[in-house]
Amino acid sequence: MSFTLKGTENLSPEEKYDFIKLFIKGQVRDEKDPLALMANISAIIMALVADLNWAGFYLVREDQLVLGPFQGLPACTRLSYNKGVCAKAWRDQAPVRLADVEAFQDHVACDSASRSELVIPLIKNNKVYGVLDLDSPLLSRFTEEDQKNFVEIVEIFQESL
Ligand code: SME
Repeated sequence: MSFTLKGTENLSPEEKYDFIKLFIKGQVRDEKDPLALMANISAIIMALVADLNWAGFYLVREDQLVLGPFQGLPACTRLSYNKGVCAKAWRDQAPVRLADVEAFQDHVACDSASRSELVIPLIKNNKVYGVLDLDSPLLSRFTEEDQKNFVEIVEIFQESL
């Protein structure tokens, strides 16, 4: 399959989210392997969503989150249940949106460039399967609207799990 982002440069942020959702709908229709899907989901997010330094997945493995497919700099390979923003989304089974990661003392700094963060849990059979983690080098990068869009993105993927 060949793929092009040609023509997406001039889309508005909302139109880019629509493009990402359409892309993921096509991916989950054509491919069933979650690893391959997560790899392409990280890539399309990083390619189209502005001002991110990290986008990717952590997956629940026993009592830890283990690094999954992502785009960005190398990151912590394991996160414990009791520490960090990703683990909070896991424990609460709800998104976590931080305007300033340094104001959240429990934050685990994997990439020192990160200033704000959004984490969305993936739920399968009422249990957390993993999380989608987005990091930005800008303070207050993520709005409620971004959160709504990323929740929808995760829903499209988790329905295929
Ligand atoms: N900041 C996350 C750790 C993962 S990295 O940001 C990629 C946390 O506090 O859980």
